[in-house]
Amino acid sequence: MKKNIITIIMTVILMTGFSASVAAAESKTAFVYFSATGTTERMAKNAADAMGADIFEIVPEHKYTAADLNWHDRESLTTIECNDPKCRPAIANKVDLSGYDAVVLCYPIWWAYAPKIMYTFVESQDWNGKKLITLCTSGGSGLGRSGSDLAKFAKGSDFRGGKDFTRGNGEAVKKYVEGLLK
Ligand SMILES: Cc1cc2nc3c(=O)[nH]c(=O)nc-3n(C[C@H](O)[C@H](O)[C@H](O)COP(=O)(O)O)c2cc1C
Repeated sequence: MKKNIITIIMTVILMTGFSASVAAAESKTAFVYFSATGTTERMAKNAADAMGADIFEIVPEHKYTAADLNWHDRESLTTIECNDPKCRPAIANKVDLSGYDAVVLCYPIWWAYAPKIMYTFVESQDWNGKKLITLCTSGGSGLGRSGSDLAKFAKGSDFRGGKDFTRGNGEAVKKYVEGLLK
């Protein structure tokens, strides 16, 4: 009887320790998105839902108007920003990524690259020890070099890759992201 009790206690202690170490080894992923007209927001929210991951928005201090977003206009705000490599539009909110070891950045493609506000964001964070994945939505030109270029400014990050998910549901994004995080 005494032996049985000791065996039960030992089993409980071992199992508790085991599940604690499994939890510690689990990776915590955050989705962070910027979206001007809602397409990227939908993609990012569906993906984060499917993965049960936390999600944060990058809120621009200046909300982009339809005139700002007019890429046919050489004088529009986005055209000016995209043509200026040093441009870093201000962000209105703080996003704390300290508790995460994997970050999925989601953004629309603007003139083949990520909007400059994404560069403001990556330069404001500490990327050491963090895996980085970049997802975009676009009018058809796809991710291109936008992910690898952004990753250059996320110093210390472990860039795993990226993809255009203008099409594809949350489950498709989940499968892709989990594949890159293995
Ligand atoms: C200023 C600007 C530039 C754009 N440049 C491109 C581009 O180079 N290639 C492309 O396929 N789509 C381009 N687009 C289309 C957007 O990437 C696409 O509509 C995206 O899904 C919008 O995402 P959002 O609704 O989250 O802002 C551009 C859109 C804007 C506003």
